[in-house]
Amino acid sequence: MSTESVKDRVIIFDTTLRDGEQSPGASMNVAQKLQVALALRDLGVDVIELGFPVASQGDFEAVTTVAERIEGPILCALARANREDIDRTWEALRSAARRRLHVFIATSPLHREYKLKMNQQEVVRRAVEAIGYARERFEDVQFSAEDAARTEPEFLAEVAERAIEAGATTINIPDTVGYTVPSQYSSLIAYLRRHVRGIERVVLSVHCHNDLGLAVANSLAAVAEGARQVECTINGIGERAGNCALEEVVMALRTRHDFFGVRTAVRTERLYPTSRLLSNVTGLQVQRNKAVVGQNAFAHEAGIHQHGMLMHPGTYEIMRPEDVGFSGSHLVLGKHSGRHVLRQRMKDLGYQLDATQLDKLFEEFKRLADRKKEVFDADLEVLIQGYINPGESSSWKLETLSCVSGVGTVPTASVCLEHTDGRKLRDAACGDGPVDAVFKAIERITGQQVRLCSYQVTSVTDGEDAQGHVSLEVETGLQRFQGRGVNTDIITASAQAFLDALNRAARITVPASVSKPVIPSISASA
Ligand code: KIV
Ligand code: ZN
Repeated sequence: MSTESVKDRVIIFDTTLRDGEQSPGASMNVAQKLQVALALRDLGVDVIELGFPVASQGDFEAVTTVAERIEGPILCALARANREDIDRTWEALRSAARRRLHVFIATSPLHREYKLKMNQQEVVRRAVEAIGYARERFEDVQFSAEDAARTEPEFLAEVAERAIEAGATTINIPDTVGYTVPSQYSSLIAYLRRHVRGIERVVLSVHCHNDLGLAVANSLAAVAEGARQVECTINGIGERAGNCALEEVVMALRTRHDFFGVRTAVRTERLYPTSRLLSNVTGLQVQRNKAVVGQNAFAHEAGIHQHGMLMHPGTYEIMRPEDVGFSGSHLVLGKHSGRHVLRQRMKDLGYQLDATQLDKLFEEFKRLADRKKEVFDADLEVLIQGYINPGESSSWKLETLSCVSGVGTVPTASVCLEHTDGRKLRDAACGDGPVDAVFKAIERITGQQVRLCSYQVTSVTDGEDAQGHVSLEVETGLQRFQGRGVNTDIITASAQAFLDALNRAARITVPASVSKPVIPSISASA
């Protein structure tokens, strides 16, 4: 993108698959990352950060696979400021039509002294060397000064200037620990624009974390001062309290165009489906009152609001639900609906299915439609989860389940599971209640011992045959995994959710040494 066209245009840099994925419980496998990347492309983001190839073999494969299949947006990957990281990232992004290397080094006094054990000039030298080396391969090189918001402004300006001289095309100013406040952050951006020679030739970018709930506010304040790239994630997922929420920053810029005078290329009507898709893929629920994409975002309960809305929607509504693709819970299909209608509906929901996935989903859908009069979007979203992991090994499916519980009896469950490798195993267990007994029987069969951290039952849709939705979180060693299950029988839904979490745990092999949430950080010897 030329610097001219970015004057009133804000570049949306999505880092859901890199910084977002570092959120506990948000790990995704390659097939899931591909689904999310396709949805991000359809959403119209400018840059997709695919991962950190050096962090693990899984990250490397995910970046390579997605880079081979996605066209349109710039595809980016992260590297520390050293040759090995840059070489590995080059390999991972080699097949991308439009690629960007994102190289970073920390600049704040705390990071310099305790993490890097480098003085200011060593940090500058390392950044300059890395950028120069990166430019031998990549035309598009983004430089991030990690913990920039807590760096001395004069030193930050020096690093930025030297990075530009070395060939960086985007300079990113992260608020890595979500420490800054809007007026301070916007002053920093203004300061850099005044004091860094050559800053007008590059894109000035912001990357805010949400530890104080200020990530979106800080990003917007920076845009008002001339930043022209915002780094963000769908649903604001990310380490700790998360990153700047893409949907919020995009809708703020659009709704308050009168104030900011800038635009993005995001197709806002894809925001809600993309948010749902990510939530379904990761199992991380979106809070009901979340701005823009929460279930309550467009609900007006109070009588006075409803009255005003009937007179004129603008009285209490600053965005229209359709502007963000919010459609409520739709009755979409019934048992006479055909394959074509199913494919179209899944596409509207953000899923790109190949012929095999569609065939399998169609069979399941017909079975569900026989059991249930009305099939809603939420029902389809649950069905699809089993089919976006083609060829995955290590996956268990519930075959049969029976359980006895009641007053004066010990709750007991008998469960039969089928593994993708063809094994069918059965076992029984007693528990404190029927759900506990089912979980214990499943643990005995799979041999996976986990700690249940949370368990919640809600109703997915309305109506007398509404499905019960179980969402839970389990912990295995260092990592947490989400699981979801939906069924008209909540014990069955619980078993499905538990298996879903165990299957995610088995699929995602993140070695403990690079387990999220720790980004490998540059060391003095690296
Ligand atoms: O928060 C941060 O500083 C980062 C950088 C690697 C850009 O994620
Ligand atoms: Zn970050």
